[in-house]
Amino acid sequence: MLRTHTCGELNIANVGQTVTLCGWVQRSRDMGGMTFIDLRDRYGITQLAFNMQTNAALCEEARKLGREFVIAATGKVAERESKNLKISTGEIEIIVEKLEILNAAKTPPFTIEDETDGGDELRMKYRYLDLRRNAVRKNLELRHRMAIETRNYLDKQNFIEVETPVLIKSTPEGARDFVVPSRMNPGEFYALPQSPQTFKQLLMVSGFDRYYQIVKCFRDEDLRADRQPEFTQIDCEMSFITQEDILQTFEGLVKYLFKTVKNIDISEVPRMSYADAMKYYGNDKPDIRFEMKLVELNNSKNNLTAGKNFKLFDEAGLVVAICAKACAEYTRKQIDELTEWVKRPQIGMSGLVWARWNAEGIKSSVDKFYSQEDVKKWFEAAGGKEGDLMLILAGEENKTRKAMSELRLEMGNRLSLRNPNDYKVLWVLDFPLLEWSEENNRWHAMHHPFTSPKPEDVYLLDTNPGAVRANAYDMVINGVEVGGGSIRIFNKHLQKKMFSILGFTDEDAQAQFGFLMNAFEYGAPPHGGIAFGFDRLCSLFGGAESIRDFIAFPKNNSGRDLMIDAPSPISKEQLVELYIDIVKKD
Ligand code: AMO
Repeated sequence: MLRTHTCGELNIANVGQTVTLCGWVQRSRDMGGMTFIDLRDRYGITQLAFNMQTNAALCEEARKLGREFVIAATGKVAERESKNLKISTGEIEIIVEKLEILNAAKTPPFTIEDETDGGDELRMKYRYLDLRRNAVRKNLELRHRMAIETRNYLDKQNFIEVETPVLIKSTPEGARDFVVPSRMNPGEFYALPQSPQTFKQLLMVSGFDRYYQIVKCFRDEDLRADRQPEFTQIDCEMSFITQEDILQTFEGLVKYLFKTVKNIDISEVPRMSYADAMKYYGNDKPDIRFEMKLVELNNSKNNLTAGKNFKLFDEAGLVVAICAKACAEYTRKQIDELTEWVKRPQIGMSGLVWARWNAEGIKSSVDKFYSQEDVKKWFEAAGGKEGDLMLILAGEENKTRKAMSELRLEMGNRLSLRNPNDYKVLWVLDFPLLEWSEENNRWHAMHHPFTSPKPEDVYLLDTNPGAVRANAYDMVINGVEVGGGSIRIFNKHLQKKMFSILGFTDEDAQAQFGFLMNAFEYGAPPHGGIAFGFDRLCSLFGGAESIRDFIAFPKNNSGRDLMIDAPSPISKEQLVELYIDIVKKD
């Protein structure tokens, strides 16, 4: 070893020992008679001291060290005069006797500090320098711990990790595939897996009964803060189980991770149907850290807005409200801000109706049409009382619900109701099996085509496919979908029927998924599973919204790796070898 200790481990108990440390020069301070250098490695920072009076030559040498030089320093541990009690090594320093430059360094393009002056692009281009920063390094350490604890938990529960192939077959369902040309099979392509879904089901047919894999998945889709083109799943599958067994096993995993990694006890994991999630929160991944549920004011059973000649409400598919507690004193300016906010193109509403109830009584922006008594009923429907503010949106049903869901989250932010250190875990159950695609004019599987319908809904498959519920579940933490799965179809005939509802001919289904349907004829056990988005889980545990800094070498929003400059063109020879002609789109 070139070093006797790391830069994070020496303290007052080591005073008097001769040690050698290696690391990077974080900062150097020249104080006339003394020069101090902060030496950094993965474990921390230790102060090196050079004394002009006792060793002028060495001190001169130290003064020449630039930022990020890699050095080895040998000397005695001494108690510091001015202590820094914020760090564990802050009571000591090394009186350096020998200094060796292991490698010089160019001045880095941004400061390697917790608060860096480097913008996103620069940090990504020099990601290996960015990874020297505490904040990013800690994220990767957290990720490592999460992976270890996941393996510990699943291993204890008899799961075995099996690797599945990365070069597989392109299929038309789901997101777009990334494809890889096959030199040995001219004109043919592999696809990179969007998930190991079919392989894990085949492993169940093979009798493995409890499988998991921490596995890279690839999806060619539009990117966002919580989406990368290559990301990692904790992918799991079990045989001879019910949905309840899966829910118990995997809420167990998440509770175990919270306890072992963050020392947080998650006492309960409530369950909500998809229908209720949509009704009360306007989306299928509700943030239940705060209430502020959506209230339909023009519900067919209890229409509180009709008959007053207010055209906007009368013509709306949905009039929906939220009640912001203790916000009756919102100023005109604050309301105007919210109105502008809902009018932004991302939200797309034409305006916002408000009603407030304060000591002077009830007042609303639609006083011309609705009396105080009318508006009071709205407050009552929302559980509102004096002191509260109601915000109301009206318009086409789906758009309005979605907009209100966004407004609810925005109000949650404005009112500081979404504390990143408060964790609320939720199961969303009973998703619809199918959703209608206007674009393709056919049914799509809402989860994937291997998800089983609820047995009690199977009879609807022929008459009302949109009403069929699936044995499918998502795990949601603080409004983020961290995992999803389902109980699978394990019967060839039902699987065939599912493909036919999705618009496959028998031949297509056989060509694309024959291997799975054939396997179902050789003794397939009842099975089901789930996959967690590992990057998302890590970013949630780390209290961040973007998954990017929990991935060592991520892509940017255009899917580029700025450091290695990928993707990139390939040579004409490579193209010829792969039988690829670049075809320009019309
Ligand atoms: P699903 O498609 O729901 O299910 O994916 C499971 C989880 O993976 C995460 N995720 C992503 N994370 C980062 N970037 C992405 N582009 C991305 N896409 C998905 C989400 C999601 O909940 N085979 C099924 C699982 C099963 O049925 O067992 C599947 O892949 O957190």
